[in-house]
Amino acid sequence: MIQHPAFKVEEWSVRETKLHFDVLAQTESIFALSNGHIGLRGNLDEGEPHGLPGSYLNSVYELHPLPYAESAYGNPESGQTIINVTNGKLIRLNVEDEPFDIRYGTIHSHERELDLRNGILRRSVCWTSPAGQTIKVTSTRLVSFTQRAIAAINYEVEPIDTPMRIVLQSELVANEEITSKQDDPRAASTVTKKLISEENHAKGMLGLLVHHTQESGLRIGTAMDHVIKGPEEMAVDADSSPDIARLTITAKVKPGEKIRLTKYIAYGWSSLRSRPAIHDQVIAALSAARMTGWEGLLEEQRAYLDTFWGKADVEIEGDPQIQQAVRFALFHVLQAAARGERRPIPAKGLTGPGYDGHTFWDTEIFVLPVLTLTQPSAVADALYWRYSILDQACERARLLGLKGATFPWRTIAGEECSGYWPASVAAFHINADIAYAVVHYVGATNDLKFEEEVGLPLLVETARLWRSLGCENAEGQFRIDGVTGPNEYSALADNNVYTNLMAQLNLRAAAEAVERHPKAAHKLGVKDEEVKNWLSAAENMFLPYDKRLKVTPQDEAFTKHEVWNFSQTKKDEYPLFLHYHYAHLYRKQVVKQADLVLAMQLFSSAFSAELKARNFAYYEPLTVRDSSLSASTQAVLAAEVGHLQLAYDYLGEAALMDLYNLEHNTQDGLHMASLAGSWTALVAGLGGLRWQDGSLSFAPRLPEGLKRLAFRIRFKGRCLLVEIKPGEASYRLLDGEPLKTWHHGQEITVSTKEATTRPIPSIKAGAPPKQPSERTPAHREPGGSK
Ligand code: BGC
Repeated sequence: MIQHPAFKVEEWSVRETKLHFDVLAQTESIFALSNGHIGLRGNLDEGEPHGLPGSYLNSVYELHPLPYAESAYGNPESGQTIINVTNGKLIRLNVEDEPFDIRYGTIHSHERELDLRNGILRRSVCWTSPAGQTIKVTSTRLVSFTQRAIAAINYEVEPIDTPMRIVLQSELVANEEITSKQDDPRAASTVTKKLISEENHAKGMLGLLVHHTQESGLRIGTAMDHVIKGPEEMAVDADSSPDIARLTITAKVKPGEKIRLTKYIAYGWSSLRSRPAIHDQVIAALSAARMTGWEGLLEEQRAYLDTFWGKADVEIEGDPQIQQAVRFALFHVLQAAARGERRPIPAKGLTGPGYDGHTFWDTEIFVLPVLTLTQPSAVADALYWRYSILDQACERARLLGLKGATFPWRTIAGEECSGYWPASVAAFHINADIAYAVVHYVGATNDLKFEEEVGLPLLVETARLWRSLGCENAEGQFRIDGVTGPNEYSALADNNVYTNLMAQLNLRAAAEAVERHPKAAHKLGVKDEEVKNWLSAAENMFLPYDKRLKVTPQDEAFTKHEVWNFSQTKKDEYPLFLHYHYAHLYRKQVVKQADLVLAMQLFSSAFSAELKARNFAYYEPLTVRDSSLSASTQAVLAAEVGHLQLAYDYLGEAALMDLYNLEHNTQDGLHMASLAGSWTALVAGLGGLRWQDGSLSFAPRLPEGLKRLAFRIRFKGRCLLVEIKPGEASYRLLDGEPLKTWHHGQEITVSTKEATTRPIPSIKAGAPPKQPSERTPAHREPGGSK
């Protein structure tokens, strides 16, 4: 197991007990706070040193040109990239003329703690300045789950042994300088366009800045208000200039005394509202936060999280690292989505600028399935966002000569932002991925109002796309040719099985939703004939099979290609896309990330148990996991076919992706899909959760070393608790009416009265599969790494 000294293993916290400058940028992502609307990287309060400063607002972006050496029809000309908005978290400290800067002087102690139960980031430092003054600084930061426009910081300074003059400068800073430039395509594009100042104001305890973006037409307001408690001898001064609003507090503080600053920060943005309206909006948000007060904000935060954990917690006995990692993961997934309110959930949440802040299929296939069963309201919100960009998706389909809607592969505001069409436009599966999320959200909540208003139009327009993209051939097969599936090392292939199964689900789900909402469907122009066509396409959907190898090919031709020369590929040549041209990769059997294996997870009943085992054995030696979206899926299937140790190894990789920086790019932001995937590896992998006929089924099995796994699931208005021990599993409802489910194929009814306990049947797995050389997942010791 890879060891990293940065964080201590604790059940409910991620704690860093020493400041490691080499992992500063990584810790800024790990310690990021967000509520889905505001995102603040875990930068030090004083701003420097930093890895990458970052304050983000969901959907605030700037445009940049997407240049092509050879332009072609339909290529997007303009890209969108997330921007670092006004930094409201800055509090600079001067101790007797000396700036508090931990690169100088002596650090006696430095600790940061992300508290997953209270939803706060704590910091405490004891430092002696180069001139010999010793101080203790403690700060607590939160981004409120209950007041979406609000972040707050409580900052305290105390002198240790001598009286001293202390100057605190609490600031709002726009257009911060960012120096980082990277060659990795997964990092952000550099946008040099500055925010334009419209208003700056500072008076009393208040400061405010309003700016607008140059190209994307967005206006951003940031305001701060303060409560100060300190010694009698204290002066407060406020000043502002176009990019800075500043409150300066000067005090003489004696040992035994403290100066305490509570800073409330409000953010607002709009593409429509005027400067005065944005001004008023942030001032109003501040006023509400001040009325709640610091203690009140802390209480609200804790209460919000108590409710969340009460229905979503996962408990593990026998592996404290995974215990910590899965709670860390759930916390960040919640942060990315909680108050997004009809805005997207980007691949990195709001923890960093990686992938330009874009939203991909990661959301619908990795993140939303977890939220569907833990925080369903966030799923409705995220899908509302898809609905809000439906018109753009329909327009794009027209441009591409197709019917219905084609959603962008990557975007912030709805327009396609990928300049590489073989792995974007051609990845049509994104459209059915959205349909998949709609179907499961409605299945888990019975939210028929949502289905009528939002789900139906999404299902209908995506079904229309499949019907126009595919074609029925002379043999009556419905084929979908020339598409790219999840495995981006194969492109423009015919009949990708994942895509075809997804399209089949999409077509059928649209027909069923039309039947449930005939009036709404009529308004969308749906005719009986059209529905018949969808159903016949679904019925005749071509799903290739390789009779010679007795496996399912990822796409029609895949198993006929030459196998990648793994023995000649060196360890440092992974990820392959940074070392080999796609033209080379596309011709070979090499799998970037689970594709057919993902199809087996999501469409479990479409494959027999024997076929799943054969397919898994076939794809393991070809799968290099050059994407963080792979390990969790491989964990799920490894567990299903009985390779429990391998499932455990993959679980470790998914769960520790960011805490251990396994992809070496956590500095750009956290991997939301992999974080969500750690829940999936546990619940769908070791818990064996699958969807079966609109209900849930379980087939739990623990690897050696894990003594207990318990998880909670919200389903059809109930909360179900599943507890798995080595020889048995029990099921109990924490609330709600009795529920039918399955345990290893056996029907059971669970209720609040008593737990239903069943033994776990043993499984005989085939020979353990081999991964490509150099790509075997790290072996996880029973009981977790010490
Ligand atoms: C993966 C995609 C994913 C994207 C963003 C790529 O490396 O291949 O499947 O959507 O990263 O996470």
